[in-house]
Amino acid sequence: LVEALPRRQQSILELRLYQGFWLPEHWVPGTIVFQRRFSPRPDDVVLASYPKCGTTWLKALAFAAAARGAHPPASTAHPLRRLNPHDCIPFIDEIFAGGEHAKLDLLPSPRLMNTHLPYTLLPGPVTAGACRVVYVCRDPKDMVVSLWHFLRRAKPDLSFAETFESVCDGTVAAGPVWDHVLSYWRASVARPDRVLFLKYEDLLRDAAAGVRRLAEFMGRPFSPAEEAAGDVAAVVELCSFEEMKGLEVNKPGAGTAGRYRPMPRDAFFRKGVAGDWANQMTPEMAARLDGIVREKLQGTGLAFA
Ligand code: A3P
Repeated sequence: LVEALPRRQQSILELRLYQGFWLPEHWVPGTIVFQRRFSPRPDDVVLASYPKCGTTWLKALAFAAAARGAHPPASTAHPLRRLNPHDCIPFIDEIFAGGEHAKLDLLPSPRLMNTHLPYTLLPGPVTAGACRVVYVCRDPKDMVVSLWHFLRRAKPDLSFAETFESVCDGTVAAGPVWDHVLSYWRASVARPDRVLFLKYEDLLRDAAAGVRRLAEFMGRPFSPAEEAAGDVAAVVELCSFEEMKGLEVNKPGAGTAGRYRPMPRDAFFRKGVAGDWANQMTPEMAARLDGIVREKLQGTGLAFA
């Protein structure tokens, strides 16, 4: 089946067009197994994102909020002070790509997992509402810049123009990005109790509000006592860019995160701001990408400021 799917080369990855999305070739068989075999539990939370849109941050925030009983966020022994967020929450796509799906069965409930797959490619029981899904999106202009810096870690001669062009024509891992975002946006509009839609830029503006929404959505709202004890602020602080980037475990040379396609852990923490696109993109490029995104999102109720 994989051999029969349309194929494209994107910078460092071989891509296959599967059900309307360009997936890294090594994800496709695992995606099919995931679609057929995954058995969600009612208290599962699937953290979803397009790559480079805030996955690491969302994983940290969700982990810190969900595990706050066992691991108080202010504790100096908190797992997130010793482990990269990607080592705390399994990446479904790579687990299935590696044929290790039985590992998910062994995880204690409530399980937190993440995926870069679009909503329409998630297993039927998930899209039927059997568990919760949280999505984080980001201004595609900042995503492209972040993606380029990330890919350059593996391919130093990769030009920004090449990355930009592949994003614009949709041939990027899990692309086209606008179809990815819209798949979750539509699901969140249809089932707000099952799909929470967050924006990276909103989290930057008010991380505490994001943490409260996340905890409430996961079925564990902060109690008045926790609020009074400053637990929300402690989660925000623990997961802040400065805090995470400064940890020994995330410093350059501190090792890799991810099992099958490991990346240096520091590669997940670059600038952590909104608007960095202006330092990399020409005004013409920005206008072109904005134009494509505006056209694709027209009439959906979703917009990037
Ligand atoms: P930049 O490259 O623009 O700095 P992902 O986690 O989906 O791979 O996304 C990576 C982007 O999120 C990078 O953006 C990274 O710096 C940023 N990021 C990682 N951790 C963060 C945090 N705790 N707070 C804010 N941004 C964070």
